[in-house]
Amino acid sequence: MPRRRPAGILRPVVLVTGASSGIGAASATALAQLGHTVIGASRRGTAPLGVHGLAMDVTDDDAVAAGLERVLGEHGRLDALVAGAGYGLSGPVETTPLDAARAQLETNFWGTVRVTRAALPALRAGPHGLVVVLSSLAGIFGIPFQAYYTASKFALEGWAEALAYEVEPLGVHVTLVEPGNIRTGFTDARRDAGEDAGSPYTAAHRGAVGIMVRDEREAAGPDVVARVIARAVTAGRPPRRATAGSLDERYAVLMRRLLPARAFERLGRRAMLER
Ligand SMILES: NC(=O)c1ccc[n+]([C@@H]2O[C@H](COP(=O)([O-])OP(=O)(O)OC[C@H]3O[C@@H](n4cnc5c(N)ncnc54)[C@H](OP(=O)(O)O)[C@@H]3O)[C@@H](O)[C@H]2O)c1
Repeated sequence: MPRRRPAGILRPVVLVTGASSGIGAASATALAQLGHTVIGASRRGTAPLGVHGLAMDVTDDDAVAAGLERVLGEHGRLDALVAGAGYGLSGPVETTPLDAARAQLETNFWGTVRVTRAALPALRAGPHGLVVVLSSLAGIFGIPFQAYYTASKFALEGWAEALAYEVEPLGVHVTLVEPGNIRTGFTDARRDAGEDAGSPYTAAHRGAVGIMVRDEREAAGPDVVARVIARAVTAGRPPRRATAGSLDERYAVLMRRLLPARAFERLGRRAMLER
């Protein structure tokens, strides 16, 4: 039986990865403002005001082990992990170099796995623990010309569901947060795998990325997601999944669940390729 998370720890300790920018920075700020002790990790190691910065590359085993050791050495325990470190990669499946595809999974999927594994002993040791996994709408349906990004988020969705069975009986909850488009540094940080001259995909790839960039730049800022994350961290019984997006995006999630695959793809084609 999953345990309810007892309230009452005076100053919970939370590690947020990806805290130098965007959703991670906004979440770290929101949690610090709620009185939590927050450690914000990233490769840069910079963190917002009130958050302890930690330089930790989630793709590096030694850096993650040293980072967790430092958190526990300095703060004595860990109550929640918000695994937000990640980036986007665009490119056609056929021509994206496998190294670029592997690197995408190495940060978004394996980086989350690496940090979660290192954090679990401390999360289990407390009266309650929580792992918040930054998924995406790309963890619910495929995004054209971002197949490897999509794969990284689908992988997180299945992995986190499986993880919940294992750790909830030990007092650790797991929450998947699924944002839609959000205005952050993500858009400029997106890597572009490009394509060869004369590629049959170029026009569609450029069109899809153009639509995505425009939607991200016009989207809500990261505070929308930070609020959802803060709610999960402070909840007595955090939800398994929490989406954060516009009305259109919530409608798309509902349609994904209700419609046959090809009918949904017709909507997806219109929204993501033909606008
Ligand atoms: N923005 C959106 O539209 C959107 C939508 C759905 C889901 N998401 C997800 O939300 C998460 C945060 O994205 P964001 O929008 O906040 O993007 P962002 O502003 O680009 O922030 C990404 C963060 O991840 C960190 N990071 C990247 N690679 C890292 C690594 N190897 N090790 C440690 N930290 C690393 C970056 O810091 P350094 O560069 O300093 O390492 C930065 O702090 C990602 O998982 C993303 O997939 C974003």
